[in-house]
Amino acid sequence: MNRTHHCAQLTSAHLGASVALMGWVDSIRDHGGIIFIDLRDRKGLTQVKFDPQDHAALGTSAAHLKPESVIAIAGTVVPRPAGTVNPALPTGEIEVAANQLEILNVSETPPFPLDDAGGDKVNEDLRLTYRYLDLRRPKMRKHLQLRHRAAKSIRDYFDAQEFIEVETPALFKSTPEGAREYLVPSRIHPGQFYALSQSPQQFKQILMVAGVEKYFQIARCFRDEDLRSDRQMEFTQVDVEASFIDREGIYTLFEGMLKQVWKDVLNHDLPTPFPRLAYHDAMNRYGVDKPDVRFAMELVDFSATFRDSAFKVFQSTVAAGGVIKAINAQGLADLTQGETKSLEEIAKSLGAKGLAFIKVEGGEWKSPIVKFFTPAEKAELTARLGMADGDIVFFAAAPWDKACAILGRLRLEAAALLAKRGKLSLRPDDWQFLWVVDFPLMTRDEAEDRYVATHHPFTAPVPEDAAYLDSDPQRVRGQHYDVVLNGMELGGGSIRIHQPALQKKVFEDVLKIPADVVESRFGYMLRAFTFGAPPHGGIAFGLDRMVALLCGTTSIRDVIAFPKTQKGQDLMAQSPTPVTAKQLKELHIQTVLPE
Ligand code: AMO
Ligand code: AMP
Repeated sequence: MNRTHHCAQLTSAHLGASVALMGWVDSIRDHGGIIFIDLRDRKGLTQVKFDPQDHAALGTSAAHLKPESVIAIAGTVVPRPAGTVNPALPTGEIEVAANQLEILNVSETPPFPLDDAGGDKVNEDLRLTYRYLDLRRPKMRKHLQLRHRAAKSIRDYFDAQEFIEVETPALFKSTPEGAREYLVPSRIHPGQFYALSQSPQQFKQILMVAGVEKYFQIARCFRDEDLRSDRQMEFTQVDVEASFIDREGIYTLFEGMLKQVWKDVLNHDLPTPFPRLAYHDAMNRYGVDKPDVRFAMELVDFSATFRDSAFKVFQSTVAAGGVIKAINAQGLADLTQGETKSLEEIAKSLGAKGLAFIKVEGGEWKSPIVKFFTPAEKAELTARLGMADGDIVFFAAAPWDKACAILGRLRLEAAALLAKRGKLSLRPDDWQFLWVVDFPLMTRDEAEDRYVATHHPFTAPVPEDAAYLDSDPQRVRGQHYDVVLNGMELGGGSIRIHQPALQKKVFEDVLKIPADVVESRFGYMLRAFTFGAPPHGGIAFGLDRMVALLCGTTSIRDVIAFPKTQKGQDLMAQSPTPVTAKQLKELHIQTVLPE
């Protein structure tokens, strides 16, 4: 049989045509001896009818088919009887009256239902073990198709802007400055290792020295991190670098790309330019550097108000240089005891000593601490937080960064609880993009008693701050930017250092990496820069994260064909696995297992 059509193609326009279809048995129904099969392929469903009055033998074998078996059928397109038309399907007005059936492969009964609703209820481990069945579900198929369209749109965009895609090695050298790396032992160099590339960062900068000027790559990256719903050990970046470009140039280039992707994939017109928010303001107002600005619930500072508070916790925190911050979760006064407890646990896990709150119910403030407040303090709270009946206000009294982190997290938790109650709309398709800018170039690592690069050590300082690199590194802002969408960090990048002397100074004097280590890790790069490195900058963003948001899901595992579990396992092929002693010997490796 030769396939003539796919299963979403036939309509009343094809009535009377002889057709042949191939695909999987989606479902079988027996209506008094007449067998109906919904036949499925990658495009959709077509109803096929086996009528024993026409072809007795066909009806009998069709009746024995099991779902997910693969068949080929031939027949004639006929109208569905009045009353049985299905307007939800493109092929809902017709069915195919079969006159031939070929069973190409029978299927065992699948371990879970393959429809969207049924499959969604199944434990994810089971879906990952039988990923090939999971990917047959219409929703998962759509995710793969959308990912393809997004990647194509990105390639088309950069091609039109005269960028070229250059592949860079996955096997790189170990330069442990960022996330933990995966090491690969060398067989021909005993005791030596490659590292799997965390990102093409150094190569793309070298490509700028090489005069490529406009580079992009849809690149696989590897990081040995603790996995979460938005983190995989191998993930895909859209990686970009350009020469003779400044921050404004990058913003325009990238906004243009996102605009095109949203148009091509969703037919949605994204407004540009995106708003920009300084890092300090993001922390101060939203408590995170990747704020979800689909809702307000901003952090309000009351340090001045409570400087002389009768509530000792507040007074002493301010006296010690800390801050009092608060958020108003409007309409969340009906918090259950369990919910209150879990919010308190979350606050404590972030270092809070407690979680003071005020509930406004029946015109009354219900709170263990309100007895300490003066009428003036109360008036100020009411006015600046817009407190009304049904609201609940949470306080954090702590050093600034800790107070921001605590309330930043509670703000998200409270929003989720409000959304669950239908009191706040958090539509996944309310696309609130923003640039977070003006990050500090360096962050103090108290544990290691040194500065670490906030983004990475190749980021250039903001020119007017560069003078403070020696005297006050924390005051120096970096030319670093992140693009954030609905609370997710989609991407980040920077204008780079292109002067070898400044790059060396950052490594040695600011980051305090010993000169010999700098030479062995980055010597080649510093040398490259001495041969006429152009000013350059770039950005990389997570393709998996972007596609997840485009699909309306927050788990990148749903948009990666074969992801790893939270524990880093491939449940389908079963990895990781032990290897033979012979393999290890060839690699000059001995393993020492934990007790
Ligand atoms: P960065 O480390 O910020 O920058 O990574 C860029 C983007 O990659 C995505 N991402 C991840 N996605 C899934 N799983 C992970 N484990 C993971 N880690 C990162 C995020 C992130 O915003 N070379 C620089 C970019 C540059 O400076 O040009 C870099 O890699 O969406
Ligand atoms: P206490 O006087 O210690 O019983 O605290 C009174 C209320 O303030 C309790 O609800 C505590 O959870 C809360 N609380 C204590 N310390 C802090 C803090 N640093 N920030 C916010 N709330 C706190």
